[in-house]
Amino acid sequence: MKLAVFSAKPYDRDYLTQVNTARSQADSPPPALELVFHDFPLSEETVPLAHGAGAVCAFVNDDLGEPVLAALADAGVRAILLRCAGYNHVDLAAAERLGLFVANVPAYSPEAVAEFAVALIQTLNRNTHRAYNRVREGNFRLDGLLGRTLHGKTVGVVGTGRIGLALARIMRAGFGCRVLAHDPYPSAELAGLGGEYVALDELLAESDFVSLHCPLTEATRHVICEASLGRMKPGAMLVNTSRGGLIRTRDVIAALKSKRLGGLALDVYEGEGAIFYNDHSADIIDDDELTRLMTFHNVLICGHQGFFAHEALGEIAECTLRNLEDFMRRVPCDNSLVREGHLLVRRESAPVRI
Ligand SMILES: NC(=O)c1ccc[n+]([C@@H]2O[C@H](COP(=O)([O-])OP(=O)(O)OC[C@H]3O[C@@H](n4cnc5c(N)ncnc54)[C@H](O)[C@@H]3O)[C@@H](O)[C@H]2O)c1
Repeated sequence: MKLAVFSAKPYDRDYLTQVNTARSQADSPPPALELVFHDFPLSEETVPLAHGAGAVCAFVNDDLGEPVLAALADAGVRAILLRCAGYNHVDLAAAERLGLFVANVPAYSPEAVAEFAVALIQTLNRNTHRAYNRVREGNFRLDGLLGRTLHGKTVGVVGTGRIGLALARIMRAGFGCRVLAHDPYPSAELAGLGGEYVALDELLAESDFVSLHCPLTEATRHVICEASLGRMKPGAMLVNTSRGGLIRTRDVIAALKSKRLGGLALDVYEGEGAIFYNDHSADIIDDDELTRLMTFHNVLICGHQGFFAHEALGEIAECTLRNLEDFMRRVPCDNSLVREGHLLVRRESAPVRI
């Protein structure tokens, strides 16, 4: 089968090619797979390039809305392999109607993202991003770089799935923080890590650092807005490594301007689809909210790189090709979201399109 890989960066080519080669040399190799890489994202314009492929492999900012899925199905594509955990950008109901198979990579190195969230918290908290720039200019003054210790502070973890629990573990065992969490589906593991579930309002009111790790759904879109920001402890810091749509950007800008919010670290951004993963250093960035955010000294923005660790890329490539092998062998796939006409995720929690 031919697998058309969209939004393919050099590292995608490297890891998928290495894993495909290794798998083809195994004692009992999977059905043969030809990888075809496309640098550009999957969209209504680029979908014709999937002709002749039985499956496509997509990433977080590829368009997997109904028109694209319908065009893929018309072109003979039968399977969509997401090389990411989030599936908020996929119209799963349309995939179900079209009889497509959709699978994701739900569980690659949660530490890759959790440790990245810790890096963001520490950078923001101790101003190492500012120190780095100052020292490069020969300025060794410390004014404005004052931070706080994490020991004894309260960290609020919104969403205690794989990544949220990994963060809770690090913050509790590594830094001696008090960990509060909120999740409509609590995990028995949290108590063992020394964390405590509370209502979202209590988490917001008590936390010195709030870190978002819930998926983007109808229920969580803009969970951070004027009202919830108003409930946060004054001066608290907010970290989002989950999905940009969890935050209403114009409301965090207002909270930063009023100094109610003490700092913001984003690895994801609501409008990232048009900007992230590409070099815009010679362009005029046509997004006034993003450019306003970039002017605050206490805002740190990264281009959706929480997953970008060697261990995670290897696991993502392995799992993506294993999911496809399950589809090709017609055996149950643990990671299928839609299996040929059957939506397997809970309808009430089915994420929405951005
Ligand atoms: N920055 C990156 O590179 C990167 C990489 C991987 C994943 N992610 C994002 O991180 C998120 C978390 O990933 P994960 O693997 O831990 O997912 P997961 O499915 O294991 O956990 C998500 C948790 O959020 C909870 N949740 C659902 N609705 C909620 C709500 N309203 N309030 C609070 N919690 C709620 C769920 O019950 C679950 O426990 C994903 O949504 C994904 O989009 C980002």
